[in-house]
Amino acid sequence: MFSRPRRCIVRGGEVVTAAGVVRSDVLVVDGVVAGLGSFEPGHDEVPADAEVIDAHGSYVLPGGVDFHTHLDSVFRGSIRTADDFASGTAAAVAGGTTTIVDFCRAEAGQSLADALADWRERVAAQRPWADYGAHMVLVQPDAETLEQLSGLPDLGVTSVKMYLAYPGQMMSDDEALLRAMQSAAESDMLVLVHAENGHAIKVLVGDALAAGHTEPDWHGKTRPPMTEAEAVMRASVLARLSGTRLYIVHVSSSEALAEIERARAAGTQIFAETCSHYLVFDESMLEGVPREIAARFVCSPPTRSLEDQTELWGALDSGPLDVLSSDHCPFALHGEKIVEGDFTHILNGLPGVEQRMAIAYQGVVDGHYTLARMVEIASSNPAKLAGLYPRKGEIAVGSDADLVILDPRQSSILSASTHHSAADYLPYEGMEVSGRVRQVLLRGETVFFDGAVLQNQRAGAYLHRSTPSHPLGETK
Ligand code: URP
Ligand code: ZN
Ligand code: ZN
Repeated sequence: MFSRPRRCIVRGGEVVTAAGVVRSDVLVVDGVVAGLGSFEPGHDEVPADAEVIDAHGSYVLPGGVDFHTHLDSVFRGSIRTADDFASGTAAAVAGGTTTIVDFCRAEAGQSLADALADWRERVAAQRPWADYGAHMVLVQPDAETLEQLSGLPDLGVTSVKMYLAYPGQMMSDDEALLRAMQSAAESDMLVLVHAENGHAIKVLVGDALAAGHTEPDWHGKTRPPMTEAEAVMRASVLARLSGTRLYIVHVSSSEALAEIERARAAGTQIFAETCSHYLVFDESMLEGVPREIAARFVCSPPTRSLEDQTELWGALDSGPLDVLSSDHCPFALHGEKIVEGDFTHILNGLPGVEQRMAIAYQGVVDGHYTLARMVEIASSNPAKLAGLYPRKGEIAVGSDADLVILDPRQSSILSASTHHSAADYLPYEGMEVSGRVRQVLLRGETVFFDGAVLQNQRAGAYLHRSTPSHPLGETK
């Protein structure tokens, strides 16, 4: 914890919440928002020693909530992501994200409770800058593991994550998914699904390699949108059968969006996110360029067409997308990403936790949605689905004073030379975006100021999440 929770007034900014924009001071006492209005140190309820932070001309946003990051994670058995919880959360707060929800997975034979305890110990030892919670990953859970699910909400974990992709690694079959959904429904947990048909993709990959197609663009060509849409449909049907709430991660295509709309219309309790990279990059990034360049953009599902991009922006504004996440999962380009060999060797995943809020704000500037909607998809909705609202994702009396001061008069160049991630590259390299995050407060303490994270402010804490109770679309 911070040694002395700060009392401060963030003065004169345009305070943005999902309900709209209002010019107001924000009074912070003991790490929480104590008032909105007009405040002077020494007057009324304001402590005389309250520091004044000038926010005139800037927006004051609730700290971003990133519902999908992979920090200090191991893939393919032994390959670790470039960022741990130190560098990854430095990147998060530098980009205006003060809360992340990452992933915990039990080793073979380990109980879910023990896995969570180990995960918490490991993460705390890395002294994160942002607050953090966990989703529990399940692969082929046995009956004993499913029984253990009911104990997770008491430990602060109210969601599980399952993959319909990556056969032989993380993939669950339909029986495992349905049984896990049934157990999750009994404990009122949210089920996150990576929706791609792993078996179909395996066949397409085998065919492509047999035909001599080894270049990175075949990563995308062997994962066509219908393999995503089918998995969305299948997960939706199983969610309805079990009565669980379903959350589709990293939606990338209009075909998948159509399945989500169909499922929602049929009464499925389905929520969905897209990720920043699908809004910026398209399939051409993998085409006709050296492997080393193409590898920077390899993720699953793959980046799609420009038409899909347009649809995703629209779906963030008016549905069915509810959340913008990063799916931050970087591997060192000169190392773990594995550029050599055929396309199947390239590790899937991109950095983006530091750029997510910038891209969300660019969506406002480019007219895709309002500032209030940006706050909804990047902060309030993920906080609600995480069971953290209104403590997180809101600026209201009693909320944690996680505040982002964003100056819309400035712009930023996204670059690996200035980012805080340990990744040795940035797919967004050189991209100019509107706005600049000037200062970020976590529970009232400045954790990022003027381009630098504050080294003595590494007080990120484990978030004991509740069962989500706030409907999306309603504010405090
Ligand atoms: O390509 C991706 N998305 N990598 C991260 C792991 C996952 O599937 O979310
Ligand atoms: Zn995934
Ligand atoms: Zn992911």
